Amino acid sequence: MLNNNIISANASGIKIASNILRKNGIISFPTETVYGLGASALSSDAVAKIYAVKKRPSFNPLIVHVSSLKKAMEIGIFNQEAQKLAERFWPGPLTIVVPIRKNSQISELVTAGLSTVALRVPSNDIALALLKYCDIPLAAPSANLSGTVSSTNAKHVLDDFHSSIDIILDGGKCKYGIESTIIISAKDGFKLLRAGCITEDIIKKELNIIVQKYESSTIIAPGQLEKHYSPKAKLRLNASALLEDEEFIGFGKVPDGISSTINLSVNGNLIEAATNLFSILRSIDDLKLNNVAIAKIPNTGIGIAINDRLQRAAIQNI
Ligand code: TXA
Ligand code: MG
Repeated sequence: MLNNNIISANASGIKIASNILRKNGIISFPTETVYGLGASALSSDAVAKIYAVKKRPSFNPLIVHVSSLKKAMEIGIFNQEAQKLAERFWPGPLTIVVPIRKNSQISELVTAGLSTVALRVPSNDIALALLKYCDIPLAAPSANLSGTVSSTNAKHVLDDFHSSIDIILDGGKCKYGIESTIIISAKDGFKLLRAGCITEDIIKKELNIIVQKYESSTIIAPGQLEKHYSPKAKLRLNASALLEDEEFIGFGKVPDGISSTINLSVNGNLIEAATNLFSILRSIDDLKLNNVAIAKIPNTGIGIAINDRLQRAAIQNI
């Protein structure tokens, strides 16, 4: 043990984690997007613990993580197009919502009563090794308390959960730092439920598949709720100057006259900015800042997902 219940994600760590999962315990593990809070998706006892420690409203369904498309197809019903999407982007930062099979054995607590299931094959080596070794589908929301930002390193997970989870597998900093893109495969085609690294443009370019905006007053993924990611400070977006009592978070070159020490990416690199986003949002609370101005982030590529998370982070304060 390195620090409380943080353990190295080597072969022995993966064995320990698997044993805990088989006994319906809860662990945290790294993925390429953010850290997950994993438990057996087959056990209502295990899944109930996730809702309890996360303080998550029980209507919010969880993503089931598996090691391959083959395993995913034992749980959900993939039409040809959904299969094409999975074949191209899995393992990777994409979650696909499909109808659930009647004989899936997934706990009803995972889907929160919906007739669909969200599935994902992560590409992070540790996550994949764990899924293969324990051979259990893992229900795993992001490893953060409900309403706070996701965790992108083991320390964030420890800060939120301390000893209320069994162990944290430490895999360092997450590669992308922003949650997976969520796409639902509906009767009338694909719809985007949450923006992420894999954008509609990439999917159109690579597979010639159109992903529509989700347009309905019914919220089916609480990730769609406006207020979701929320530091305590008041955030002002698209800032090009500083008001009184504000701290500045830059992106690229900081405007003249501002001496900013916090920057999402000094070189104006969107991928780097995504990786740093949640650490920086968490540090706003740690530094007890009250008013924060954030530079404009270009709304292209992964910048769309960054702006999506920033808008939700800002909204609670209005
Ligand atoms: O990158 C990720 O997706 C991370 C890592 C750990 O894999 N997980 C994650 O999980 O972000 P979570 O629980 O924080 O967000 C999952 C989102 C929620 O907004 C939930 O409502 C939605 O997925 N979701 C799950 N099942 C769904 C379903 N059947 N239909 C629609 N939305 C669903
Ligand atoms: Mg989450």
